Amino acid sequence: MHLTGHTVRITLSITSKKLGGFILKPLVHESGKISEERVVLITGGYGFSGSNLVRYWLEHYPNDKIILLDGMTYAARPKYVKDFVEEIRKHKNPDIHEVIVDIRDQLAVARVMQKFQPDLVLHLAAESHVCRSIAGPKAFMETNILGTFNMIEEFYQLWRGYKYKSKRFLHVSTDEVFGELQAHENPFSELNNIRPRSPYAASKASSDHIVQCYHHTYGIPTIITNCSNNFGPNQHEEKLIPATIWRLLNGEPARLYSNGLNVRDWLFVEDHCRALALLTERGEPGQRYCIGGDQELSNIEIVERIHEKIFPGGSRELRVEYTADRPTDDRRYAIDCSRLKKLGWSPQSSEDFEKNLAGTIEYYMREFTGAGREASVPSAREGVSSV
Ligand SMILES: NC(=O)c1ccc[n+]([C@@H]2O[C@H](COP(=O)([O-])OP(=O)(O)OC[C@H]3O[C@@H](n4cnc5c(N)ncnc54)[C@H](O)[C@@H]3O)[C@@H](O)[C@H]2O)c1
Repeated sequence: MHLTGHTVRITLSITSKKLGGFILKPLVHESGKISEERVVLITGGYGFSGSNLVRYWLEHYPNDKIILLDGMTYAARPKYVKDFVEEIRKHKNPDIHEVIVDIRDQLAVARVMQKFQPDLVLHLAAESHVCRSIAGPKAFMETNILGTFNMIEEFYQLWRGYKYKSKRFLHVSTDEVFGELQAHENPFSELNNIRPRSPYAASKASSDHIVQCYHHTYGIPTIITNCSNNFGPNQHEEKLIPATIWRLLNGEPARLYSNGLNVRDWLFVEDHCRALALLTERGEPGQRYCIGGDQELSNIEIVERIHEKIFPGGSRELRVEYTADRPTDDRRYAIDCSRLKKLGWSPQSSEDFEKNLAGTIEYYMREFTGAGREASVPSAREGVSSV
């Protein structure tokens, strides 16, 4: 691997200082490991799921060193991470390193792999918004396909030189690679055909194939996960739940595609993180695992619950603006996650689902009305139903 040319952009302490007090410990090794702690590389760590995964990891694996890699696209929300790092720091110095790198830059990815030599890669960085993929698919093909190739190829270059082979590459993907379900059909499982219908889903399906082929061809211990819609804190306001909250708080009608009857299976983001952590320990290399919440709800049901929470007892009438059908707006997703459940994981009970959804709505109400984040108004205004 040639690391000459220095087009590589690795920003460590300088960027972190700009972010305001983000903890950085000096690197203790440049090559090889000197302690028993694991080095865990989480890509997309400033995005919605990635930031919650970083939080989960810091709380549950305090001895690990975390490398948070992110390209800081429009979807990155570093403040959330900075805030909980500060909180954790009151009790313990978290061992976390921030690396600002665009995964489309193979040389930069190679430098990160060589420098940190991760034991575990959890790959979440992606372009993730279906509507954007329809308006402009190229960035999705570049980041989701080429970027994933760069990640797995550079992991492979590192892995092939390891003395022991216990390293893992976990690729986080979506249930959208399976296409859509009709009302009467069984939920998706790992055995379903891959039938993506949007550019986003096609780019993720392609990345799944690339990761899978590195397992078959080179023997890398990979795991692929296909997850349903997540909800929870720190999601970009272009997505259904934060967008709806913002619109209702600002006196605007909720906005839904078509008739609002499209069904999604909702999973609390912390359950997703718990599943990923379990799979790094107990997942079978080379396997794919579906992750879902056993909570099928139509988009209009989600909107109604948000409305009831903001205006209890119908103190204000719910107004919904239905827009034209989005091309390839899949009717229904549902997930059969029995393979994962056999490893001892289950999504939250119905009771927790209501509690977590209510907590999520309260979080965004605070964010949009208090001293928290300001929504990017165009995103919130345009936000409709999508992962
Ligand atoms: N959110 C969900 O409901 C959901 C469900 C199933 C699967 N997933 C998958 O989980 C992963 C994370 O989803 P999310 O909702 O957190 O996404 P997100 O859009 O909130 O965050 C994506 C993060 O990736 C970073 N990123 C984008 N392009 C990059 C690049 N070229 N180089 C480096 N970093 C880059 C962004 O800056 C951002 O921080 C994605 O792979 C997505 O396909 C998400």
